[in-house]
Amino acid sequence: MSKEFRFDTKAIHGTDFKRNPENALNPPIFQTTTFVFEDLDHVEKVMSFESQDYVYTRGNNPTLRLFENRLAELEYGKGAVAFSSGMAAITSVLFSRLQPKDTVITHKTLYGSSYNVITNILPKYGVNYKIVDLTDIEELEKSIDESVKVVYFETPSNPNLSIIDIEKVVKISHEKGIKVVVDNTFATPYFQNPLLLGADVVVHSATKYIGGHGDALGGVAVSKDEKYIHYLKFDYMCEFGGVMSPFNAWLMLRGIKTLGLRMRQHEKNAMEVAKFLNSHPKVKNVMYPGLENFKGHEIAKKQMRGFGAIISFEIEGGTKNLEKFIKGLKLCQLAVSLGDTETLVEVPSLMTHRGYPKEKLEEFGFSENMVRISVGLEDYNDIIEDLEEAIKKI
Ligand SMILES: Cc1ncc(COP(=O)(O)O)c(C=O)c1O
Repeated sequence: MSKEFRFDTKAIHGTDFKRNPENALNPPIFQTTTFVFEDLDHVEKVMSFESQDYVYTRGNNPTLRLFENRLAELEYGKGAVAFSSGMAAITSVLFSRLQPKDTVITHKTLYGSSYNVITNILPKYGVNYKIVDLTDIEELEKSIDESVKVVYFETPSNPNLSIIDIEKVVKISHEKGIKVVVDNTFATPYFQNPLLLGADVVVHSATKYIGGHGDALGGVAVSKDEKYIHYLKFDYMCEFGGVMSPFNAWLMLRGIKTLGLRMRQHEKNAMEVAKFLNSHPKVKNVMYPGLENFKGHEIAKKQMRGFGAIISFEIEGGTKNLEKFIKGLKLCQLAVSLGDTETLVEVPSLMTHRGYPKEKLEEFGFSENMVRISVGLEDYNDIIEDLEEAIKKI
């Protein structure tokens, strides 16, 4: 099929319209570790990559390939690699692009484990890092030297929704031969396509919106560079062993079918919740890219097709009130993770971002008492009523 379908259609059908075995509507789960060769001639063809046939599920598997192709299509890449988790994707991409004495530049806020990898783990292998406010392009320009090989960031960033101008970062980085890697977990390919804005690699925690139901871990890296995808798959994913299971690939493919539908409703709910929080006298510092007074709103409008469904905010009155508020929630669940059908609430300084130095949180752009909410797919009136009841408890 040569017709270019729209997002929702591609998410359900893909673009190649290949029939599944036995004409099944849904693909089977190829629950196998290994694949049988015809003879040694077949072995030679497959091992030398002359044939696309399969060897061993740690390297490839038909269910994983379907998931990888679907993500490559939705992110406008030429190929993708599926991983066992978002962190497996992120660490493999960073290790594949960095060597001792290289430097990686990252933004002030990013997911706690990614921050830990960049500031604690990579330095053990001789890789240096610089933390830069990437919303300030001049600061990026000033911090580049010959050792910088990768600029890595999330936009919107976790947990304070910083919006980083992807095109501007790409322009400056590419002039110096630096690769740009974007974690697109919060936006999903439905709202943003970093590869179309020039990024070299896109990574996702597929555990979040892509799977969408809080029941499967997964990660993926997508690029327009087929050679790089081959290298990432066989030198890093396959050798580090962080492969996605066939069952999880199948769950992800099922989740992707409703990605557009879910994201539209997530965003609608989030906008209502953000407006409610923003107008509540006991709530301050509401961070949501869809709010017109939010710092990154104009850039978000330019590079995204929607604002997502993660909101951060503070409750007036410090830790004591925060504790009462959290205790007062009934519908919204206190849990890490995001992008599920259920509304999840967490306190980053105590949970996902515990590794950030406490005394420096404000410098990084968030506070000890900040709350992050992943607005789910319940009726938004019920979510708002739950938040309202909990705020009454303070
Ligand atoms: C923005 C972002 N990137 C990556 C990850 C890591 O993903 P995973 O838990 O699938 O390893 C997370 C997890 O919360 C995240 O929020």
